Amino acid sequence: MAQLTPVLTANWGDDKPWTLEGYTASGGYAALRQSLGMDAGDLVSMVKASGLRGRGGAGFPTGMKWGFLPAPDGGPRYLVVNADESEPGTCKDIPLMLANPHVLVEGVAITSYAIGCHHAFIYVRGEVVHVYRRLLKAVADAYAAGHLGKNIHGSGFDLDVTVHAGAGAYICGEETALLDSLEGRRGQPRLKPPFPAVAGLYARPTVVNNVESIASVPAIVTGGADWFTSMGTEKSAGHGIFSLSGHVTRPGQYEAPLGITLRELLEMAGGVREGHELKFWTPGGSSTPIFTAEHLDVPLDYESVGAAGSMLGTRALQIFDETTSVVRAVARWTDFYAHESCGKCTPCREGTYWLKQVLHRLEAGDGEEGDIDTLLDVCDNILGRAFCALGDGATSPITSAIKYFREEFEAGMHTPASELFPPNRSALF
Ligand code: NAI
Repeated sequence: MAQLTPVLTANWGDDKPWTLEGYTASGGYAALRQSLGMDAGDLVSMVKASGLRGRGGAGFPTGMKWGFLPAPDGGPRYLVVNADESEPGTCKDIPLMLANPHVLVEGVAITSYAIGCHHAFIYVRGEVVHVYRRLLKAVADAYAAGHLGKNIHGSGFDLDVTVHAGAGAYICGEETALLDSLEGRRGQPRLKPPFPAVAGLYARPTVVNNVESIASVPAIVTGGADWFTSMGTEKSAGHGIFSLSGHVTRPGQYEAPLGITLRELLEMAGGVREGHELKFWTPGGSSTPIFTAEHLDVPLDYESVGAAGSMLGTRALQIFDETTSVVRAVARWTDFYAHESCGKCTPCREGTYWLKQVLHRLEAGDGEEGDIDTLLDVCDNILGRAFCALGDGATSPITSAIKYFREEFEAGMHTPASELFPPNRSALF
């Protein structure tokens, strides 16, 4: 029987876990004191040895990313936390920052010390004003307690932290668009390379890491790399927050070792809502190819999900039962991508527009002969040709849905989705 591994979520049920007092009572900031007594290079080695991989979706090894920073040249280097969580279905960083903002602040302080940064930024999604306020309070309290600011705990290490609220654009979660936005410009992706590690914020070496990645660092410091690698799989180590949403009995955040399966998570979450059965699901938000009931036993680690034809992404497990029209679901996601495309590159800007037109007529039962081929052709012309991952992500639900549910798209040439799958109060799409 699979077990949960609450680390980041361990104190969520405590009394006011978001306060400095609450966090300190559960051992908070001990890892920072321990880190300040360590050699910065040893901290980087420890995170490398832990096998922690970026929890924002791409799974790039965190310690390796820190190691890409060039040797100090006397100029500034930055840490930027990507807290612009916006992937449809993804709801892990926002609850984490609401329930436990200090674990992020502590992770920021430790990481900054490890990489030699004296000014860190937390770029939070603009719509979540409550999270922004909570972070501002946590940072202010951390300064007052001496966890941030000048000469932290007598170590001689100085760190300032700025919390910045974005203006609510999905593209600003793309790390280089985020940096443009933070610099005060319209957020649009930059060409990579150079990667931010070499030329990031204000063209200085910058580490951009996801909230959950940075929040995982304090426990790695206190627990050790071996403790972290004792969870998960060989190449996908540690614990992660899996967000279950949709047609599931008990939706929410389930922190478990990587490699757990949806079947096991569903058992803990009370299963698909009563009287219904699983039709399809996303392993990592809407930008990852969908899965079906045949994938219930795929271990949710980077390698296994990849081998099964999708991506682990943000571990946003959106569950859809048999009442859902896959055409309608895919059309809604495509509306989102078309709206959020920043317009910088033609394949994404024009492609998402045309995908939306075709999907809308299929949803309405007004599809034309050849529409499925047109969808696949447009996806083929976006995939690998867009400036950033947004375009690729927009194609994933479409091509995978056609692969598994082609007959529903064919039905769109004569029957509206609303007839085949009447919308009802409990239907998600
Ligand atoms: P990526 O694979 O291009 O890069 C991942 C990270 O590794 C970046 O920080 C990049 O700078 C770094 N990196 C890669 N190669 C490097 C090199 N040679 N040298 C230095 N650094 C290097 O992926 P990307 O485009 O940053 O993110 C795509 C992922 O984002 C998707 O897999 C998706 O799951 C996720 N995503 C998450 C969202 C959210 O709300 N959390 C929203 C949309 C997408």
